Amino acid sequence: MSPFSVGIITVSDSVHAGINEDKSGALIQEILCLRGFQKAASAIVPDDTDSIHGSVKELCNLKLDCIFTTGGTGFSERDRTPEAISPLLERQAPGLVHLLLSSSLKHTPLAALSRPVAGTIGKTLVVTLPGSVKAVQENLDALLSNDVLDHALDLIK
Ligand code: MTE
Repeated sequence: MSPFSVGIITVSDSVHAGINEDKSGALIQEILCLRGFQKAASAIVPDDTDSIHGSVKELCNLKLDCIFTTGGTGFSERDRTPEAISPLLERQAPGLVHLLLSSSLKHTPLAALSRPVAGTIGKTLVVTLPGSVKAVQENLDALLSNDVLDHALDLIK
């Protein structure tokens, strides 16, 4: 079982406003905790660049092994997650982005509408996932297959 700590940030105006349930954040927690990860922190923020930026920085200060965001990766006017996180990344992880997109495209051509980013901030790996529970499940399946995520985190430590 993995000893890694994880932070989860749900990026959604409607969840932040209490209109919708945080199903995707809950699913990330469920999947990763079943794999032995420990949820150390979570946050729900609106689709707002400063809020996303601030939340990622706050969780990075906790020296977590990884942070997953869900939501705000698409093309809607308010989808700003990649723009908020990209400037914070010290090392880009294009291979992980490729894995997310290529595996997702096997499920649906709509995966092309996500603009994921991934990379490291200090010793924390940050990965952006789309907002739907279906996409979260499919993306995490890809990252967890063949222990890709565990291996990346072992190397970053
Ligand atoms: N990726 C996977 N694996 N499965 C999906 O169903 N949905 C797509 C895409 N990525 C999807 C997916 C859709 S419909 C959109 S609009 C984008 O993710 C962006 O989602 P977001 O803005 O909620 O982050």
